[in-house]
Amino acid sequence: DNDLYRLYHGLMLPKIAHTDESLNYLQNFQVKDDDTFAVTYPKSGTTWMQEILPPLLNGGDLTSVQTVPNWDRVPWLEETRAPLLLDKLPSPRAIVSHMPCHLMPSSFFNSKAKVIYVARNPKDVLVSSFHFHKMANFLEDPGTFEEFTDKFLSGKVLFGKWTDHVKSWRNPELGDRILYITYEEMLQDLREVLGRILNFLGRELREDVLDRVVNNCTFKNMKTNTMSNYSLVPDVILDQKKSNFLRKGIAGDWKNHFSPELDAKFTAVIQEEMKGSNIKFSWDE
Ligand code: PPS
Repeated sequence: DNDLYRLYHGLMLPKIAHTDESLNYLQNFQVKDDDTFAVTYPKSGTTWMQEILPPLLNGGDLTSVQTVPNWDRVPWLEETRAPLLLDKLPSPRAIVSHMPCHLMPSSFFNSKAKVIYVARNPKDVLVSSFHFHKMANFLEDPGTFEEFTDKFLSGKVLFGKWTDHVKSWRNPELGDRILYITYEEMLQDLREVLGRILNFLGRELREDVLDRVVNNCTFKNMKTNTMSNYSLVPDVILDQKKSNFLRKGIAGDWKNHFSPELDAKFTAVIQEEMKGSNIKFSWDE
């Protein structure tokens, strides 16, 4: 533990958002069968899912995404606002989490709640996180990009190693309760992915309603939505003059940050840790 971070089962969590009370609430949380979780390693598409899930779960209604800040609309299971919000949130609830699978509450494993796991190319996750550390005043300065890469690869970053997180959620116990999607698939064809999510949730939307939902959650539109672009958070906490929270919203920005040497090192470490996992991602091809 230090001023900024606490350790929770070996994971570094930012103290600003995680307290004894919130982590206790997480452990004892009563999952409902009709809850939907969007689980992500940080910087992999959480805010995007907070925009996507409410209208998919409520017939295409965009009221909540236009009137409720993303962190209250689809709360984080492990954060300080969860105890204030989740028990009162009407079902069907959408909840986000950065937790690895084994740290989910026991009621989760005894429920039928569904999970959408969003993965993103770890190189772009690292880049996004690097810029986030520069603008988030509740996080340590990332140092140079090379220094931050070393921290990332050794898991001395928020929520630990990317590889551990991704692997933890391939838990066979979850069966067809879990849908795996990627940030890159959403960028490539958002409508197709939303169709898959709807299908997974056993829901349907009229074509024109789905069009509206897709249009609402494009990067361009989210950037101007005050309920989703973090502009409600004061500058002293998130300094968007340094870097926007909704920064670039693209795949492949890592190419502007990695030297060939760093790329080779990064790729080798990730490949070694993913060996034998049987997990294939499009960005590895
Ligand atoms: S956090 O802090 O974990 O909640 O961050 P998270 O929301 O998971 O990740 C932030 C990155 O997601 C990008 N983002 C989007 N990209 C494309 N389209 C849409 N609609 C969208 N919404 C969020 C956001 O810009 C961050 O990525 P970078 O690469 O930094 O731009």
